[in-house]
Amino acid sequence: MIKRAILGCLCVIGFIFFVVYLFRAGEMGISSPTRDYLAHKQAREAATLTRYKLDLVDPNEAPNGIRHYARQGYLVLIDTQTYAKQYIGDGLNCTNCHFSGGDTTGGVQGSISLVGVAAKYPSYEDRAKRVLDLPARINNCFMRSMNGTALPLDSELMLSVVTYLHWISKDVPIYAPIPWLGLKPLSVQSKGDAEQGKRVYHTYCALCHRDDGQGGENNPPLWGEHSFNDAAGFNRPETLAAFIYWNMPYDDATPVLTEKQALDVAAYILSHSRPKDTN
Ligand code: HEC
Ligand code: HEC
Repeated sequence: MIKRAILGCLCVIGFIFFVVYLFRAGEMGISSPTRDYLAHKQAREAATLTRYKLDLVDPNEAPNGIRHYARQGYLVLIDTQTYAKQYIGDGLNCTNCHFSGGDTTGGVQGSISLVGVAAKYPSYEDRAKRVLDLPARINNCFMRSMNGTALPLDSELMLSVVTYLHWISKDVPIYAPIPWLGLKPLSVQSKGDAEQGKRVYHTYCALCHRDDGQGGENNPPLWGEHSFNDAAGFNRPETLAAFIYWNMPYDDATPVLTEKQALDVAAYILSHSRPKDTN
C-alpha cells in the first residue's frame, strides 16, 4: 500500500517536472534572440528615457493581431541570414549596421536607429530624386547593403519587416522631426588616406574583423565577396567614416578614434574589392 502511494507520488512529481521542462524548452526555443534583445533594451533604456523620454519597444508586447509579424520582422533584422536567406547575397545581418534591430536612439554605439521610420516615410530621397515609401526604402538596404534582391511587396517577409518597424515607431508622431535618425555627419571634411588607415585598422579593428577583413563568429566582414555592395550607403567614405567614428571599436563607450582616423580607416576599407550592384 505504502509502496504504491510512494510510486504514485513519484509519478506525479515526475510528470510535473516533465511539463515544466517542456514549457521552458518551448520558451527558450522561440525566444533566445528576444532575450538578447531584452538585455540590450535594459542597458539602453535608462539613458534613452532621460534623453528623449522614449521607451524602446519590445516586439513581444505588440497587440495580439500583429504580434506574430512584429516578432518575425524583428528576427529578420537580427538574423537575416536565417530568416531572409533567399533574398540576400552577403554575409551580413541588418543588425550589424542597425544595432539591436534598429531599436535604439542612435548616437554613440546606437548605430543607425530605425525608431520612427514608420512615421518618416513616405519621404523624398535626394539620391533617388523621388519620394520613397517604407517598403521601397527597406528594399534599398536589401539590394545594396545586403547585396541581394528586393522583397516582393506582397510577401509575408515584407509585411513582417514593415509591421516590426511600425511597432517600434509607435510613440513617434507622424512627420515629427526625429533627432536620432540618420548618421551624425563628421565635421572634418578631408579625404581619408588609405595608407594611414591601414595602420589604424591593424591597431583598432583587426582584433575582431581580422587582418583579411573577413571577421568571423559574430564579427561581420568589411570587404570582399561577403560584404555590402558598391551601391550601398557604406560605399561612400563619409557615411562609413561617420558610422565607424560613433560606433567602433564595438563595446567602447565613447569615440576612440579621431575623425581623421575614422576617415582614414574608411578609405582603407573601401580600397579593397567588394560585390558590384547588379540590381
Ligand atoms: C571588439 C570587436 C570589434 C572591434 C575591435 C571592431 N569591431 Fe566593427 N563590428 C564588430 C561587431 C560585433 C559588429 C556588429 C555589431 C552588431 O551586430 O551588433 C561590427 C560592425 C562593424 C561594421 C558594420 C558592419 C559591416 O561589416 O560592414 C563596420 C563597418 C565595422 N564594424 C568597422 C570597424 C572598424 C573600422 C573598426 C576599427 C576602428 C572596428 N569595426 C572595430 C566588432 C568589432
Ligand atoms: C552595411 C550596413 C547596413 C546594413 C547591413 C543594412 N543597412 Fe539599412 N541603412 C544603412 C545606411 C548607411 C542607411 C542610411 C543612414 C543615413 O541616412 O544616415 C540605412 C538606412 C535604412 C533605413 C532608412 C532609415 C531612415 O532614417 O530613413 C531603413 C528602413 C533600413 N536601413 C532598413 C534596413 C534593413 C531592413 C536591413 C536588413 C535587410 C538593413 N537596413 C541593412 C546601412 C545598412
